[in-house]
Amino acid sequence: MKVTVVGAGNVGATCADVLAYREVANEVVLVDIKEGIAEGKALDIWEKSPITLYDTRTVGVTNDYSKTAGSDIVVITSGLPRKPGMSRDDLIGTNAKIVKAVTENVVKHSPDAIIIVVANPLDVMTYQAHITSKLPRTKLMGMAGILDTARYRSFLAEALNVSPKDIQAVLMGGHGDTMVPLPRYTTVAGIPVTELIEKDKLDAIIQRTKTGGGELVKLMGTSAWYAPGAAAAQMVEAILKNQHRVFPVCVKLEGEYGIDNCYLGVPVVLGKDGIEKIIELDLNEDEKAMLEVSRQHVTEVMEVLDKMS
Ligand code: NAI
Ligand code: 2OP
Repeated sequence: MKVTVVGAGNVGATCADVLAYREVANEVVLVDIKEGIAEGKALDIWEKSPITLYDTRTVGVTNDYSKTAGSDIVVITSGLPRKPGMSRDDLIGTNAKIVKAVTENVVKHSPDAIIIVVANPLDVMTYQAHITSKLPRTKLMGMAGILDTARYRSFLAEALNVSPKDIQAVLMGGHGDTMVPLPRYTTVAGIPVTELIEKDKLDAIIQRTKTGGGELVKLMGTSAWYAPGAAAAQMVEAILKNQHRVFPVCVKLEGEYGIDNCYLGVPVVLGKDGIEKIIELDLNEDEKAMLEVSRQHVTEVMEVLDKMS
């Protein structure tokens, strides 16, 4: 199995590293537009293989898409990250051009690949990749929900002093401050989280989750990469190993949740053909209202993209 990761920056290189040490694919190709960066990081990951013991071959190239030919999955991380004070939406002008150009090259050399978009603003860059690739929605998706849910789960684990492994949760909507955490669907080893934590503490965790990306931008002057890279790799693994994992994933909605033609995070089943199923939860009125706010926000940014093209 062959995976290409476009963008050998913080997120792309982390994703390639996780794919390699977990031996998710036989070959991982890293691509970047900056001369030498992908070659160097791929070589560094390969040189780590005798230490952490894997045989995934990692190869780096500068903008040479012929080396990506026949990829089973392509992860698109190329794009500017946020700086302090910026929202993800501020990146649209630059990143739309990058995602368009990259997607053209990707589909030319790997027409059968499943594409996972990571670049921000995530939901709208997934839309951009769809406009360019014309791939069916089962094969074109965005990564954000696994990351946002992981932040929520890690904060809960800390507050409850339990293992993050035992926290199960789902989070829906766009990748931004309008995301919709769902405490009703959050459990600790099967126990509803609402039985274990006071409402004000849970509300504070939900708020921290919504602004979790910004918290890291403030601390580091750029956006996060360890959890995002691992989250994208987890989607790749679920698909290549046909695991039928259930994750929140950004996908084009075509009537699900009463929403049409909008890219939003919803729980899906991921297997060898990509998105095998969209799971429709029976949301209550409050949850539906929050999802509608998120839909409106993403739709507005999609319209900005439409006007730019
Ligand atoms: P970075 O700046 O470390 O890496 C981006 C890389 O893309 C750079 O190496 C750059 O040279 C490369 N690049 C730019 N244009 C290119 C092109 N046309 N072809 C190939 N490579 C190109 O940024 P980082 O931190 O890796 O973030 C990447 C993107 O992912 C950003 O847009 C960021 O906002 C987004 N992101 C999304 C997350 C999500 O949950 N969906 C989470 C974290 C980051
Ligand atoms: C994050 O949430 C910036 O979208 C990126 O960390």
